[in-house]
Amino acid sequence: MSFLITGGYGLIGSELARMLVKKGEKVWVLDKWIVPQRFTGIEGKVTSLQADLGNFSKILEAVKESSPKVIFHLGGMLSLPSNADPQSALATNVVGTYHVLEAARLFDIPKVIFTSTIATYGLDIQKPVINDFTLQRPITMYGSTKVFCELLGRFYKTKYGIDFRAVRFPSVIGPGAKTAHISIYNAWAVEKAFYGEPYDIFVTPETRCPVLYFKDAARSLLLLEAAPAEAIQTVCYLLAGIKPMNSAAELVAAIRKHFPQAILNFKPDPLAMEFHSKSQGTTYDDSLAGKEWGWKAEYSLEGMIANFYEELKVNLERYR
Ligand SMILES: NC(=O)c1ccc[n+]([C@@H]2O[C@H](COP(=O)([O-])OP(=O)(O)OC[C@H]3O[C@@H](n4cnc5c(N)ncnc54)[C@H](O)[C@@H]3O)[C@@H](O)[C@H]2O)c1
Repeated sequence: MSFLITGGYGLIGSELARMLVKKGEKVWVLDKWIVPQRFTGIEGKVTSLQADLGNFSKILEAVKESSPKVIFHLGGMLSLPSNADPQSALATNVVGTYHVLEAARLFDIPKVIFTSTIATYGLDIQKPVINDFTLQRPITMYGSTKVFCELLGRFYKTKYGIDFRAVRFPSVIGPGAKTAHISIYNAWAVEKAFYGEPYDIFVTPETRCPVLYFKDAARSLLLLEAAPAEAIQTVCYLLAGIKPMNSAAELVAAIRKHFPQAILNFKPDPLAMEFHSKSQGTTYDDSLAGKEWGWKAEYSLEGMIANFYEELKVNLERYR
């Protein structure tokens, strides 16, 4: 039996693949774009399938060929690309997820793990604490596609008995992230300092947003997958990330402990600030993920930045 990871060449998917390979599992990765250096050192242990999630025949073939015991469905378009091209986001995120779930149903794949986002919460939240039961009324194409996929997964669970489980990630930080999103300044500030390149952080120094290290994100998926079915009551779980939430100024201070000369400036973008300003003062409660399947982030802000630089030093080729 094996594992299939869609979006397996992405930031989180490739780390998840490496973790599964380390555990001795057979791993298949499906992606629209193949980036060979992502799996330097473990090339022979990962089987790649190049396919577009919007192409049902390809997804059926991939699921039939890999015959996994679990599909980790991570493939998709992130926030800014989705908003820039809603039609493609519909085809990739919404129709793509339908294809994955339908293929799972047709080929009797028992379990599908899905990656949603805290961007499924809107900007009109009345309470200062967001939890698993907070109204999901996003204003973006990206958030809207992910809400639909969560609901579709729940439908497949109820109607067809597929063991669907999902996390809602906060902003995930890691080396080599190529896809822009509304909170990408967190990752790119850390990375630009390493390369000695200047970077304009597009929010104010006081801005806080929840972040999670990519190794914690990948590990959360393994924990969620491994939990016994009877423990999974909530089905879709918010993950809060590093606590307490750091500000952009605190991020820069932590980076400067490694690179005191880092050329990091603040140049707030009005559009990004419009979005971030509405969520300031909000905190995230992920206690149900802790209670039901033992979730807890391992990396602090300092631990994350130290490990980020260690990764870039040791595995630079992987993240170029
Ligand atoms: N990175 C974050 O901050 C974040 C936050 C919340 C949720 N998520 C979710 O986690 C998942 C993984 O995110 P990531 O950070 O690894 O992003 P990523 O962009 O690095 O990875 C996504 C992968 O999906 C692939 N993909 C895109 N369109 C495709 C298509 N049509 N067919 C097949 N593959 C396609 C891309 O090539 C990429 O390798 C995504 O579903 C994302 O929405 C990420």
